[in-house]
Amino acid sequence: MRGIILAGGSGTRLRPLTSVQSKQLLPVYDKPMIYYPLSVLMQAGIREILVISGPEHVETYRTLLGDGSRLGIRIEYTVQDAPRGIAEALVLGAPFTDGEDICLVLGDNIFYGHRLPDMLREETERVDGCTLFGYPVSDPERYGVATVDDDGTIVTLEEKPAQPASNLAVTGLYMYEAEAVERAARLTPSARGELEITDLNLTYVREGRARLVNLGRGSAWFDTGTHDSLLEAAMFVQVLEKRQGIRISCVEEVAYRMGYVGKEQLTLLGKELSASSSYGRYVMELAGTS
Ligand code: DAU
Repeated sequence: MRGIILAGGSGTRLRPLTSVQSKQLLPVYDKPMIYYPLSVLMQAGIREILVISGPEHVETYRTLLGDGSRLGIRIEYTVQDAPRGIAEALVLGAPFTDGEDICLVLGDNIFYGHRLPDMLREETERVDGCTLFGYPVSDPERYGVATVDDDGTIVTLEEKPAQPASNLAVTGLYMYEAEAVERAARLTPSARGELEITDLNLTYVREGRARLVNLGRGSAWFDTGTHDSLLEAAMFVQVLEKRQGIRISCVEEVAYRMGYVGKEQLTLLGKELSASSSYGRYVMELAGTS
């Protein structure tokens, strides 16, 4: 399975924070936002990852993450010249995914949960059609909303319904069989001129081949679409990290724990980050003690 992180869009809801900066590079407490979805893919065992962003920002991502080799993974980059919809990521990513199954994650979605890595690894093995990940929320009307039968097969799926049929929001993490690329290419742009991810997912719902895995209350999911949700996500990360003395979605640590890099490389990564940064010291200490 290959991964795609979609990190484009105009970030209008977060201006002026995003007037010159890409939204998915904004800080979420101690690290750039994109580290969170990147660590999700890495923990799912995905080591080949495409980052898609707008023409004005893609080089900044390349400067930050390079070709991924420092983390023992491969990262490539593609430009989306205008925000023509989330489903366009599959079309733009086709040369990269090259007939493999795909895990798409939105660059502004933050996931955290103790069982998440194991669960994601299991799901990468069993995609038939598409697998979506749901999370119970108090404001489902802001998201894609699904209802499921007892087996987790999606029965209804609606994008931002005025009257939500359930409280299960569809998160920005999607797994697809390779054939989804052709389906995405055949979609007709919606009234707002976008290839809608929900339209793609509905093609599988109609065939009874769209599954929803409920992340449930034992995990946390944040989107960072507003000033408040951005701050809330940062505070969540801060509280947990301070209390437990750990870092969430520290990509260097994930690379080490997943066996993508060894201790020597971890030490080097820590040194590059600098001992004057508490994040850098954390990485160095990991290399020294574990
Ligand atoms: O966060 C989960 C939600 O994401 C889902 O529940 C919805 O079903 C899904 O449509 C999406 O809703 P949003 O309203 O958050 O979508 P938005 O247009 O804000 O795009 C999400 C992210 O993807 C955002 O960071 C910008 C990026 N993006 C979006 C589009 C349309 C791109 O990079 N390129 C694009 O063309």
